Amino acid sequence: MLIDSHAHLEMKEFDPDRSGVIERARAAGVDCIVTVGTNPDLSRKALSIARRYENIYSTVGIHPHDAAGADDSSLDALKKLAQDPKVVACGEIGLDYFRNLSPREKQTEMFAKQLDLAGELNLPVIIHDREAHDQALKMVKASGIRSGVFHCFSGDWAMARQCIDLGFYISVPGVVTFDKSKVLQEVVRQAPIDWMLLETDCPYLAPVPHRGKRNEPSFLVHTARKVAEIKGLAWEDVARTAAVNTRRLFRIAGPVSK
Ligand code: NI
Repeated sequence: MLIDSHAHLEMKEFDPDRSGVIERARAAGVDCIVTVGTNPDLSRKALSIARRYENIYSTVGIHPHDAAGADDSSLDALKKLAQDPKVVACGEIGLDYFRNLSPREKQTEMFAKQLDLAGELNLPVIIHDREAHDQALKMVKASGIRSGVFHCFSGDWAMARQCIDLGFYISVPGVVTFDKSKVLQEVVRQAPIDWMLLETDCPYLAPVPHRGKRNEPSFLVHTARKVAEIKGLAWEDVARTAAVNTRRLFRIAGPVSK
């Protein structure tokens, strides 16, 4: 009944044992995985994985880290890939003012262009926002896009409230299991479960008790359990509601519970 709303199965970290990772996810009750592109080549690879597995979907996007090397031909490549019905969103796109691996002007340019592209393609967006909350919100508001998710949510509850008011979901990563993640835990406490997704962001950010290892979708249960503990709910209910939310956002049909 779990859905991993944000994985990177296409990344090279999974080249040695991808099919085993996917099999372990299924065995751990992860019914569906959205694997998220970060540039045109990896978006193509993500789609090729999605086409091989019924319960894997993919997205197309240029991550802010990859914005420096992108141009209009990269956007054309995304547009072509997005014609495939297994592509369910434009992402991940956004701003990263923490690592600044691309110049900020280039990040804002590619973010704005991809918000427009999502509108043109009628796709929801997956937003990466690190240390750029005000600018990211401002650009989302200006774009008119009202369907998407702030992935790996890193703002406070006031910011989460603004995202939800705009019609955006907030996605909770394994970081919530870390003792020091008090702000995220408070967001989870306050936010309505109807506006929450769960994600691994694997191969990054493995939850406790796997912290420091390569993350994978089968570890999602630890995040669901932590959210349940914080909210005083059964973890199965958290998993089911987050799965329904994910299917609604990405328009993925199918049963979510047994
Ligand atoms: Ni990601």
